[in-house]
Amino acid sequence: MKMHRFANGDTMPMLGLGTWKSSPGDVYSAVKEAIRIGYRHIDCAAIYGNEHEVGRALAECFTEGVVKREDLWITSKLWNDRHATEDVVPALQKTLADLRLDYVDLYLVHWPVALKRGLVFPKSGEDLISLADLPLSATWKGMEDTVQQKLCRHIGVSNFGIRNLLELSANARIKPEVNQVELHPYLPQRELVETCEAQGVHMTAYSPLGSPDRPAVLVRKGSPVLLEDPTIAQVAQAKGVTPAQVLLAWALARNTSVIPKSINPERLRANLAAAEIELTDIDLLQIAGIDRQERYVGAKLWTMPGSPYVEADIWA
Ligand code: A2P
Repeated sequence: MKMHRFANGDTMPMLGLGTWKSSPGDVYSAVKEAIRIGYRHIDCAAIYGNEHEVGRALAECFTEGVVKREDLWITSKLWNDRHATEDVVPALQKTLADLRLDYVDLYLVHWPVALKRGLVFPKSGEDLISLADLPLSATWKGMEDTVQQKLCRHIGVSNFGIRNLLELSANARIKPEVNQVELHPYLPQRELVETCEAQGVHMTAYSPLGSPDRPAVLVRKGSPVLLEDPTIAQVAQAKGVTPAQVLLAWALARNTSVIPKSINPERLRANLAAAEIELTDIDLLQIAGIDRQERYVGAKLWTMPGSPYVEADIWA
């Protein structure tokens, strides 16, 4: 397994398990099975509503001697309603209690969007707080506090475009080390990847399989199915692997880490095996030639009428 090495020497396995959309009932067995077969990186978030069950699985893996805490990489994310500086440490403390951990390896600002405290999703535009009223720099101060208090080892962001990232980095005492965004051959985000590389910010690819199980609110009628792409199918067939494995190997070939979600033992195993698949330059050229642009996880939720946010600004 390829590892990403951080400036302080910590290493993160480049392929991890995604837990978004895994119901509390399913995520427990998925995490236990994943760790049993060799996953050492689990991607979580408070908003997924399942950290408590992830925590139960982790605790059992530790007591059963399957793995030690220090051999796992655990990521979690701050939800949008806890962006005030003083709310960040308590939010992470709640996540740590649910995960039954003393620290996470990586804590991310989930979205560059602020919601009124106590809200899970906005019901109207007034439920959102503008960045002028609650700047990301204030949220970042709270993130820096979590490092100082040793509640996490690394901090970063998610769903940040170039503008938000550069602005945050310029004023940060501790620079963001990771940006986790949607990345796959239908949304390669080349400029963002290049900028992050130049800034020394590692990128993690979410929804690498095109998130076929995404919630209805994110489904656009007629949008193409990444896992059924003919070019991906061609590359897969020529190599004797599956389309999902080609998509994961593609992410790794770009030096982005990748966090496919699965709750199915066979697919967990197949996805992990993709970490050993090498794509040739010709495979990569063929995939780069796919002429489609599709963002599966849009920002519509944050840009309803009356909201201070517009989609183009969020991704700018
Ligand atoms: P399941 O959990 O039943 O395995 P993403 O990581 O892009 O969000 O995609 C997750 C979706 O892809 C889930 O519906 C998951 O279903 C499915 N999936 C995960 N691994 C594979 C695979 N190897 N082949 C096909 N579908 C997969």
